[in-house]
Amino acid sequence: MSERDQLFGDDYRYFHAPYLTAAQAEADLAEVLDRLGGLPARVLDLGCGEGRLATRLASLGAAVVAVDRDPAAIAATRAAAVGSMTFVCGDLAEVSIDGEFDAVLCWFNAVGFDGHRGLDALVRQAAAWCRPGGQLLIDTVHVEGLLAAAEDGPLELVVERGSDSLVDLGHVVLDPPCLVVDRTVRRGGQQTTSSYRQALWSVPTWQERLQAAGFTEFSATGRSGEPVHAGDDSLVIWARRGR
Ligand SMILES: C[S@@+](CC[C@H](N)C(=O)[O-])C[C@H]1O[C@@H](n2cnc3c(N)ncnc32)[C@H](O)[C@@H]1O
Repeated sequence: MSERDQLFGDDYRYFHAPYLTAAQAEADLAEVLDRLGGLPARVLDLGCGEGRLATRLASLGAAVVAVDRDPAAIAATRAAAVGSMTFVCGDLAEVSIDGEFDAVLCWFNAVGFDGHRGLDALVRQAAAWCRPGGQLLIDTVHVEGLLAAAEDGPLELVVERGSDSLVDLGHVVLDPPCLVVDRTVRRGGQQTTSSYRQALWSVPTWQERLQAAGFTEFSATGRSGEPVHAGDDSLVIWARRGR
């Protein structure tokens, strides 16, 4: 398994389980519906993971196509399926999906793991998948926020479960901007190390690329819903395709 595939594999599920609760999924669902202005009829959930949002959107009555390149994630989504759902296992830059959607969703840090070309491909594909007037909603990482945090030293994430731990040590490189992370996992007495890079775009670059792809309305906010500011480490991009 490549390091890219390991990133969201079993260790991710194990260490993030305390965060990925039903209550958190309901809160994320409410935020997504609020940002989209209600329940879209047809949703494309890109990087759906284990289907926290895809299954909840379907249970409310949306027709949902759930995409993930991790076969275990798609299997878990399929096992929890309700209502009208379709499953696609593949890379979002390469999958072929028929139909147009009222909303294309990439929630909880699902983009940027295939370099800047992957971001370009995502924006191009998303424009094709959105119906005219359809919406794109992406929850990602805010490069300016990471740069501000990195002024105080390396970016560190530590997750502990009993005697097991996951430690991410990150830094930001520029031109083009990327978050570079070295990960150390101690689990069941074994230690493994890996690393990954996440391609990032600044807010002006998101806006420029989305406009070039045919999106005519755009906003960049923090998770609070307020316009994103330098200290935010999360960035929520919303865009509407021209009619
Ligand atoms: C952090 S999880 C988020 C899952 C889900 N959106 C949620 O809210 O729980 C990111 C997911 O994106 C998937 N992913 C990342 N890059 C992808 C790509 N290029 N194509 C398809 N899936 C991708 C990973 O396999 C992983 O399941």
